[in-house]
Amino acid sequence: MNVLVLGKGGREQALVRALAQSPNVQQVFALPGRAGFEPQAVCLTDQALEKDSLKEIIKTKNIKLVVIGPEKELVEGWSDFFRSLNIPVFGPSREASQLESSKLFAKHFMSSVDIPTSGFKEVHSVESVLNASPRFGFPVVLKADGLAAGKGVFICHNKKELEESAKLLFEKKIFGSAGEKALLEVFQKGEELSVFVLTNGSNYKILPFARDYKKLKDNNIGPNTGGMGAFAPHNISENLQKNIETTVVQPSIEGLKKHNLFYHGVLYIGLMIVDQKPFVLEYNVRFGDPEAQVLLPLLEGDWAEVFLSVAQGKLSDLSWKKNTFASCVILAAEGYPSKPVTGVPIQGNIGFESSHFYFLHAGTKKTNTEYVTDGGRVLNAIGVGNSKEESIQRAYKQATQVSWPGMQMRPDIGN
Ligand code: GLY
Repeated sequence: MNVLVLGKGGREQALVRALAQSPNVQQVFALPGRAGFEPQAVCLTDQALEKDSLKEIIKTKNIKLVVIGPEKELVEGWSDFFRSLNIPVFGPSREASQLESSKLFAKHFMSSVDIPTSGFKEVHSVESVLNASPRFGFPVVLKADGLAAGKGVFICHNKKELEESAKLLFEKKIFGSAGEKALLEVFQKGEELSVFVLTNGSNYKILPFARDYKKLKDNNIGPNTGGMGAFAPHNISENLQKNIETTVVQPSIEGLKKHNLFYHGVLYIGLMIVDQKPFVLEYNVRFGDPEAQVLLPLLEGDWAEVFLSVAQGKLSDLSWKKNTFASCVILAAEGYPSKPVTGVPIQGNIGFESSHFYFLHAGTKKTNTEYVTDGGRVLNAIGVGNSKEESIQRAYKQATQVSWPGMQMRPDIGN
């Protein structure tokens, strides 16, 4: 079959790579993709995300499965559009995607099925933030309701920081309509954990646990990013696994049923583990980036079959490679995350690869003669090995194959 992947980041190249390995897949198309995805995908870089041209692509390219990578396309309802053409889609409906596009929707969903999460108050103005804040103490979390590219969360340590953050949201409107409403939330101190659940809306399979590194610099300092690296599997105690399944995963699936939310895809649950107890920080309605890059290599089997079965509302059994670990180290542009410098030539051997180490292209562009930086997170250096340490060592060795002026990389992924 031919498969269409929507998106153009490192996560989407990881999806392309996994699908291209399937004996059941003739051709992967990526829309828009980027030059670095070739030859595993044919990239439809000039095609707009527009109904008539998508209908034409489905027909002329004989597409039998669509896999949607990023949240934006899900929130815009493209999965519903493909389904209306009777094409199986891996990705939830627009209605269900509100779990990611509205933090308030997600909180009401959680409270309807008793999922552990921090207490909160809805706020709409600087005044309402300051009026509500005495009940929360400090630090306190102020969170934009809508999608803000991972930048909509402020952790405020005193009244001055809180007032400044509230002004950015409600007066400067830095996130536009995504910041018209917000939540003031109890701060939880603990360890973050990413949980990914494949679901058809009534049954589920939990993927191996993954660890993401969100801060720009080592020792978790600096600004928040989309993620500077990841590894999987992240082994946690059996007790905690059980606790996550019974107090978070099962009620989340119950919630999908209770609220009639159509969900054929992956549910990404961002947790904070406090004293061995999980609290849900957020839901996302797609794979994490870079978590997908370290989860996809772990399957013993065929991702095309898995995605198709979920898209058709079935859920095939999954098995995972024994003693296999994957790590990802992000190579980011100078100025990331606030103002990445683009157009900088990438030196070195970008095509260096084996089945155990390779690059994925997240923000590169091909000119006539070379690759240049074209985004914040530019390349993902991937290492796969028989131990966590071996996979990390391979990812860092891969990273040494390229460089450019101002390149940023955390040296402590895996610690
Ligand atoms: N790695 C965080 C995210 O994908 O949202």
